[in-house]
Amino acid sequence: MHMKTIRAIIYLFVAFYAININAQLAKTTIIPEPLKVNVSEGKFVLSPHHSICVDKKFEEAQNELSLLQQVIEQRIESKLKITRKDKNSAIFVKYDKGIKSKEGYSLNINASGIYINAFTQAGLFYAIQTLDQLFPEPIESKIPGELAHVSIEDSPRFEYRALMLDPARHYFPLDDIKNYIDVMASYKFNTLHLHLTDDHGWRVEIKKYPLLTEIGSKRKETMGDGRPHEGFYSQVELKELVKYAKTKHVEIIPEIDMPGHGMAILAAYPDLACFPKDFEVSTVPGVSKELLCSGKEEVYQFYEDVLTEIAGIFPNAKMHLGGDEAPLDRWEKCPHCQKVLSDKGMAHEDELMAYFFERINKVLIKLGKDPLLWYESNVKTYPKNSYAILWRNEDPDDKMCEIQKRGLKMINAYGRNAYFDYPQWEGDIPKTTWMPILSLEKAYDFDPVRGLSEEESYFIIGVQACLWAEYLPNIDRVFYMTYPRALALSEAGWSSDKNRSWEKFKRKLNKHILRFANKGINMRFPFELKK
Ligand code: ACM
Ligand code: ZN
Repeated sequence: MHMKTIRAIIYLFVAFYAININAQLAKTTIIPEPLKVNVSEGKFVLSPHHSICVDKKFEEAQNELSLLQQVIEQRIESKLKITRKDKNSAIFVKYDKGIKSKEGYSLNINASGIYINAFTQAGLFYAIQTLDQLFPEPIESKIPGELAHVSIEDSPRFEYRALMLDPARHYFPLDDIKNYIDVMASYKFNTLHLHLTDDHGWRVEIKKYPLLTEIGSKRKETMGDGRPHEGFYSQVELKELVKYAKTKHVEIIPEIDMPGHGMAILAAYPDLACFPKDFEVSTVPGVSKELLCSGKEEVYQFYEDVLTEIAGIFPNAKMHLGGDEAPLDRWEKCPHCQKVLSDKGMAHEDELMAYFFERINKVLIKLGKDPLLWYESNVKTYPKNSYAILWRNEDPDDKMCEIQKRGLKMINAYGRNAYFDYPQWEGDIPKTTWMPILSLEKAYDFDPVRGLSEEESYFIIGVQACLWAEYLPNIDRVFYMTYPRALALSEAGWSSDKNRSWEKFKRKLNKHILRFANKGINMRFPFELKK
């Protein structure tokens, strides 16, 4: 063969090999995808003699620093010392005012070590979560402290990134909720919405109304199973949960659903209904026609007392007031409700609903809080400081437009993309007549702003998935329904739109399946992707 041809062939081989190396190098598996990632050739190996050098400004970040030590210890079985700079320093934690986002960070790994820069403890926390994902899983490398050289700059797309749990339908022990928080925080979710009350159970101790838990936290069975179900959280327990969540940079938003979804209240305090009678805590799914009465002063007093106690447990600035699925049948017939309607010159009960929330909102204003509300088109007006949650499987573009016109802020939890109680594939449970399939791909295919530009979507503050628990009897089942779909959602909430790619996400997933397996956390194996 001619020398020139041989050279050309060798060149082609080398070029092909180099391209392949580059393709390998470009492959990181971080979820959610960071804003900027640059992998370069080379490995840094973290070992037990190394130490962590911390900027003075971050010395008070004990929580994050011990998390950093734990993350490393889990990998290299050695707890690295935190010191001032010395010859063994290999991890450098720096306070950096140049990082503009309050949850942002940069992470650089090169031949001389690991460099973490952040401006807040939240940023530091998220940098550590990313670092944790960069370590090889045991099956991937024989060297547990081996890290590829990489340069990452990261910050979230949305300020609000939430999952919602529903302990009202099935009570989950506190430790289960803590585990749930651990995992969601590792994928950079920062809000846990707790649906604490519903027709099927009242789950929070209210000192002024002891029957709420004595009666309202118990139901005689669930969908005909003949087994009683009960449980509630004491205020002390919930305060502990709030404190725990804070260490994971997760804020808990409590929901007290009103004026519907209140059978557990009415079972305990039937006089709060339009037409009092003996009510029972519900045992089957569905929407009840029984609302609390909008015309009785004691209803407003009840909510003021309850919300005041709730505010004493949950210190954050948002409180969820429900507002969903409240049929107006009783209000249309009730003399108390009708009196308000005529006294105020209202034409329709939809205005009464608006009046009801305006009155409740006055309590929230006193408590220094803003309401979250499940968005219902028919409600005449919402308090101006409300956050509307888009959820119904109606035309989402229409609803978004309405919310914007009303001047409200919006959270996108659109059912078809983000109701993770829906089955994940054709053969999955629950088998209901009305739940659409919400596949992993469908969860990934979630565009929170539905094509609006950054300027046009100013009113959308983030995303949320809902894990309604009628059919989720325990936390293992909740994890199965949450993951891997919540990994997809984490990218809708955190990653910039231009960095999102279903193909890339699918490739990254293997690593996370391994992570879940190694940590013993339940997820649904996405077998349809392996075909
Ligand atoms: C809802 O799904 N009822 C908000
Ligand atoms: Zn009434």
